[in-house]
Amino acid sequence: MIVVQHRTGQYSIEFLEIAEVRRRLGQGCFVVSDENVARHWGGAIGDLLPTLVLPPGEPTKSVAMLERVARWLAQSGATRRSKVVAFGGGVIGDLAGLAAATYMRGIELIQVPTTLLAQVDSSVGGKVGIDLPEGKNLVGAFHAPTAVWIPLEALSTLPKREFINGAAEVWKYAFAVDSALLSSLESHPLVPESPKLKEVIARCIDLKRQIVEQDERDERGIRAVLNFGHTIGHALERASNYESLLHGEAIAIGMAVEARIGEELELSPTGMHTAEATVLMLPRGHGLVHAPIGDSQSVINYACAAAVPGSQRTTSENRPRAHKQVPKLVAPLSEHCCIAGSVGDISESY
Ligand SMILES: NC(=O)c1ccc[n+]([C@@H]2O[C@H](COP(=O)([O-])OP(=O)(O)OC[C@H]3O[C@@H](n4cnc5c(N)ncnc54)[C@H](O)[C@@H]3O)[C@@H](O)[C@H]2O)c1
Ligand SMILES: [Zn+2]
Repeated sequence: MIVVQHRTGQYSIEFLEIAEVRRRLGQGCFVVSDENVARHWGGAIGDLLPTLVLPPGEPTKSVAMLERVARWLAQSGATRRSKVVAFGGGVIGDLAGLAAATYMRGIELIQVPTTLLAQVDSSVGGKVGIDLPEGKNLVGAFHAPTAVWIPLEALSTLPKREFINGAAEVWKYAFAVDSALLSSLESHPLVPESPKLKEVIARCIDLKRQIVEQDERDERGIRAVLNFGHTIGHALERASNYESLLHGEAIAIGMAVEARIGEELELSPTGMHTAEATVLMLPRGHGLVHAPIGDSQSVINYACAAAVPGSQRTTSENRPRAHKQVPKLVAPLSEHCCIAGSVGDISESY
């Protein structure tokens, strides 16, 4: 069990089988899930509890769906003592979390994350929110859960591409803050059947715990280390209109590009070169990007080509187009760009 301290208390994170999650949920629990999770696991968890099943995917993190959850809570008789149970990936966790943060000025939230990304990242740390047409995560809150229950078995039904999506965040922790984890990942590839999977997830959660405990509200720049790969990654997601690249795929490419930029600025060690080669295996393994190990500009060119629908493979014709997009994409981003001072230790961000 991992215990996370926050401003107004603490919560525990436990690995639990779905049957045990079901046993612990009772009266006053309102389950929010999506169609994919409900199809595979709904019967096991929500048969007797009030359950709202929403369409899957990022568009569900919307004002309209927030209204739908809040009105469903009201119509189902939820009170200030009720608990919202977010049973799904990061989309459900963020949306149901914001509903819990705002319904009757805040009720309890239990996170039951069912994707690798949600288990290692989004269910921990208390950030909840939705998107606007103007941008991602523009409306949100900090609302710590009462508990996080991680059902490892849920990963057995996760599509491979979604597993790789979460694996990118695992690699991010390794590159950003844990060189021991990096060595372990290099010798034991992260796959769903890996005997080390639980250990790796627990390690990532503990790393996130350490970081968010020092900078709960993302005010001190400490949480910014978790943005490694995200400055470029977010730009690529935006360029792809959030369609052709999943978040993890975009940040895997982002990490490679930022590592290369760090090397060229002589802020990162040449060791990042090897690390970069490893990161690039993620999207390459998925068959999305065939990126070369070149200078930062050529990596950026490939990354942009991957993000632009219809040009997933860079050719001599689309290279100039991708090249021109880079400053335009990156300039509006106000986030810090994290450059690694050494592999496994981002001590400064720029
Ligand atoms: N709050 C935070 O700190 C934080 C951090 C990182 C990411 N996020 C947010 O998380 C979201 C992405 O999360 P995600 O990658 O989990 O996406 P997601 O919730 O959309 O899940 C990905 C897909 O997998 C399906 N799925 C989920 N669990 C499944 C299971 N066990 N078996 C089969 N299918 C399953 C979903 O229906 C969906 O189609 C983004 O909106 C991002 O902004 C939030
Ligand atoms: Zn991320």
